[in-house]
Amino acid sequence: MNVNSIKRILIVGAGTMGHSIAQIYAQAGYDVDLVDNNDEKLIHAIRLIESNLNILAEFKRVYNEEIPKILNRINPTTNLKKAAENADLITEVVSEVPEVKKSVFFQLDKYCSEEAILASNTSTLDIFKIIKNINKIERVITHHYYAPPHIIPLVEIAPSRKTSKEVIDVSIRIMEKVGKKPILMKKFAPLYIVNKIQNAITGAMYELITRGLATPKQIDLALKTSLGIKLPVVGQIQSQDFMGLDLINDILKTRGINVNFINDKIEQGHLGVKSGKGFYDYKGRSEQEILEKRDRLCLQILELLEKINAFDPI
Ligand SMILES: NC(=O)c1ccc[n+]([C@@H]2O[C@H](COP(=O)([O-])OP(=O)(O)OC[C@H]3O[C@@H](n4cnc5c(N)ncnc54)[C@H](O)[C@@H]3O)[C@@H](O)[C@H]2O)c1
Repeated sequence: MNVNSIKRILIVGAGTMGHSIAQIYAQAGYDVDLVDNNDEKLIHAIRLIESNLNILAEFKRVYNEEIPKILNRINPTTNLKKAAENADLITEVVSEVPEVKKSVFFQLDKYCSEEAILASNTSTLDIFKIIKNINKIERVITHHYYAPPHIIPLVEIAPSRKTSKEVIDVSIRIMEKVGKKPILMKKFAPLYIVNKIQNAITGAMYELITRGLATPKQIDLALKTSLGIKLPVVGQIQSQDFMGLDLINDILKTRGINVNFINDKIEQGHLGVKSGKGFYDYKGRSEQEILEKRDRLCLQILELLEKINAFDPI
């Protein structure tokens, strides 16, 4: 199997995520069956897809004349059996309830070809444990999209120890083909990368509010006027290279925290931008050159954010 053997896509679950994932594949030219066990959800899903496409057209990400063709490629249906029989790649996007996921996967196992890839969009459930008795567990993987999937590029791909290399490879290739940015994790862990980090932020945010240290409005303004400008340019890891890993180590020590990989870097003299190496290798570029590049990029983001009044609440 390779990425070109994928001809027909099945998305099971037409809710918040499912409708938008179906749209991604249809936009890329694939025929898609969109299954839900609720007729009204299917009608609503198609309406949402049409409205999503109209907004994308405003931003010239699709042409207006393409919209009817894209919609035509999506077949909304409640007939899981028929859709499963024809599918080469199936993404399960049903409710985050173990019994519901299990029931859908065992129906898919019964109806679809043994060659079909079975992907789950679960955020938190260890799908590999929930369906451990399925036939050919090596074709199961997670494709975790970030809302709204038709806009956000990231897809976190997480295999189990048993997922085949072929299924992993095709998963990455198809994401690239439909214009996504896949990140392959070593193995599945609930919340993946982004939600895990976002969870830590959420915990801190609730603590600040509970202790009366900041209001919800202040928290959003603080994040938008700081991380909101820097994150798109330096991410969270490279941001530490700019701070200096020696400073970070001092802070960690004062708090009684020992992080081995930071200690190792300090011992090797890798302090971040100022020493030419940290988490990243700056390949002989001077500190001034790197700072100038960061500052130009941050100023471009700041200009855009100010222009669109992004610091005000929506
Ligand atoms: N909402 C998000 O921001 C988000 C982000 C990333 C991942 N996820 C994951 O995506 C999955 C779906 O989340 P959602 O927010 O789209 O949920 P949702 O409730 O909006 O949609 C779930 C859909 O599944 C349908 N459904 C339920 N049982 C079914 C069955 N047996 N057969 C067919 N359809 C069935 C429901 O009718 C509903 O339309 C979850 O696993 C969730 O963790 C959600």
